[in-house]
Amino acid sequence: MTGVGTTIFAEMSALAVATGSVNLGQGFPDVDGPRAVAQAAADAIMAGHGNQYPPGPGIPELRRAIADHQQRFYGLAFDPAAEVLVTTGATEAVAAALLALVEPGDEVIAFEPYYDSYAACVAMAGGIRVPVTLRPPDFRPDLDALRSAVTTRTRLILLNSPHNPTGSVFTRAELEAIAKLACERDLLVVADEVYEHLVYTGEHLPIGSLPGMTDRTVSISSAGKTFSFTGWKIGWVTASAELVAAVTSVKQFLTYVSGGPFQYAVAEALRMPDAYYAGLSADLRGKRDLLCAGLAEAGFEVYPPAGTYFVTTDIRQLGESDGVRFCRELPHRAGVVAIPSAVFYDDPEAGRTQVRFAFCKRTEVLQEALARITEWAKNS
Ligand SMILES: Cc1ncc(COP(=O)(O)O)c(C=O)c1O
Repeated sequence: MTGVGTTIFAEMSALAVATGSVNLGQGFPDVDGPRAVAQAAADAIMAGHGNQYPPGPGIPELRRAIADHQQRFYGLAFDPAAEVLVTTGATEAVAAALLALVEPGDEVIAFEPYYDSYAACVAMAGGIRVPVTLRPPDFRPDLDALRSAVTTRTRLILLNSPHNPTGSVFTRAELEAIAKLACERDLLVVADEVYEHLVYTGEHLPIGSLPGMTDRTVSISSAGKTFSFTGWKIGWVTASAELVAAVTSVKQFLTYVSGGPFQYAVAEALRMPDAYYAGLSADLRGKRDLLCAGLAEAGFEVYPPAGTYFVTTDIRQLGESDGVRFCRELPHRAGVVAIPSAVFYDDPEAGRTQVRFAFCKRTEVLQEALARITEWAKNS
């Protein structure tokens, strides 16, 4: 499926423009993050902070703020000088981690459906991806299937919780089982935690905080989702000094450094009070509930997500059997764009009737999308 997700996003965005559709396809907010944070970036540019190549691992202020964030929210201690790396979004962090840690022929286990860069990055590293499927209605990890997927060639588990596109948030018991397996079979875990603050049911637990995991986990996050500045592409890695050194050695030849002035702004953003983080998830929780209720009323089978920007639905109740076709037609039929989840699976049959909608949009935009979908569903 390498690249298919990316292609479908471009196709659907173009279709949204051509048909004047409400675009609930790609996951980015339609309102920027806090003004004070944007001002901090503007101030940094005008003050000449970070306009020339900043330090490769990231500016010290940001590395310190990332370490403090890990301590504040999870009680994890990282040395900002050796155990934190700033990257160009989580996307670069995932790519650099896989290129650094996977040798040709190594197997990488990931829970499908998965974020579309994973397959491409495993392939670029010469690795072999081994999917373990999350299935509706709960999209819980099948731990027996995971255990059976591990072979002598398995190098690492690429974990994403809260999970895009299903919105599943792995429980403590599930993460403990995965951690135990990683320790028993001497595996690394690359944990993509970009939605760590977008949790509405349950709570996010970093797998790196579990016993035995400190030296075998590369944790990845990003300012894009947490502060609603997805265009800034400031991400980070926290891990042992040895793992950070390995990832840094690849980052050096991917981008060398990451956007300087934005780093100053993100350093400030990470220090915002708890009320900011609570407000962000409360706002998105309300939007999740609005979209889930409206889609269910229109006749979709809805799998309410515990976290992220996305809700997965099934279209069989609407008399539909092919999500790709459905998503190509929906803009013309209803004036709404969504993404067929099949593009996130190795096995397209597994997600054939699933369709993903993003709810990180203004309430009036979601209401307009729902009004259009309801009207279409009534008349079809
Ligand atoms: C699971 C997951 N990982 C990584 C990213 C990319 O993050 P960034 O924009 O920081 O590169 C996304 C963005 O949609 C995502 O959903």
